[in-house]
Amino acid sequence: MTTMTLDAGTTAPAATEQPEQDAVNTNTRVSETVGHPLCDDAKLSMRNVNVFYGETQAIHDVSLDIGRNEVVAMIGPSGCGKSTFLRCINRMNDTIESCRVEGDLTLDGEPIYGPKVDVVPLRARVGMVFQKPNPFPKTIYENVAYGPKIHGIASRRAELDEIVENSLRRAGLWNEVKDRLDKPGTGLSGGQQQRLCIARAIAVSPEVILMDEPCSALDPIATARIEELIDELRENYTIAIVTHSMQQAARVSQRTAYFHLGHLVEVNDTETVFTNPEHELTEAYITGRFG
Ligand SMILES: Nc1ncnc2c1ncn2[C@@H]1O[C@H](COP(=O)(O)OP(=O)(O)O)[C@@H](O)[C@H]1O
Ligand SMILES: [Mg+2]
Repeated sequence: MTTMTLDAGTTAPAATEQPEQDAVNTNTRVSETVGHPLCDDAKLSMRNVNVFYGETQAIHDVSLDIGRNEVVAMIGPSGCGKSTFLRCINRMNDTIESCRVEGDLTLDGEPIYGPKVDVVPLRARVGMVFQKPNPFPKTIYENVAYGPKIHGIASRRAELDEIVENSLRRAGLWNEVKDRLDKPGTGLSGGQQQRLCIARAIAVSPEVILMDEPCSALDPIATARIEELIDELRENYTIAIVTHSMQQAARVSQRTAYFHLGHLVEVNDTETVFTNPEHELTEAYITGRFG
């Protein structure tokens, strides 16, 4: 396992600004992940993952499982590798030329990085929702119908109509858009656009949904709506969500993973992480001493 010594100054607040007892011990060593990174019924299994951008290592020997019908939240200070790790799961890092991923990652026991793996169907099985809602410059209907068409899931209008309606219903958007399906997706509010992007991800019947700070561009009401939706979606999907909001992690996830400088410091059931963290770095972060 990797061992790391934190540099003074990277995380600890200046001594003059903080009372003595609030100082994070900068000599804390992250030698292995504490808590429960593995699970019995893993949908996704990531073992000994290392990620490099050129010569720079962004993820250090991370092992983590995500169970079926589980929401795992990934939290940690900006730049700690949450997005990089999330992008390993559906091979989005393949699109970054300098990026190299090492480790064993499997979906239902099948390798995600095998030589025979075609990333197009992989990304249909492992959908992604981004920070900023990114509807296609097409109609609401076409945004949702696009995936099923290109993946050959449906081609007849009646089949597509059904998928579009079901996906929009499951994303909690149908009633708001059913009379304007032929209007541009980009004309919706931010919160509606994000639910449209979730409907688009659902339309190809994924098994896993990755969300990278899906609410950070949304107002509190739209955020609450997405959080409710995440809880409903858990019945049918495995979900990994990166969030900078600890309240959001506490509300939507069953387990929470705390990342720090590319290391997975602690994973535990969400309540434990927020009420009784095992690692002092986790505690320092959740009590607001850095981040
Ligand atoms: N495309 C990239 N090229 C080079 N370095 C990157 C790239 N994306 C992220 N990094 C670096 O990898 C580290 C982790 O970044 P990231 O995964 O975006 O963290 P987070 O999502 O936790 O804020 C950071 O040091 C960041 O600068
Ligand atoms: Mg990020």
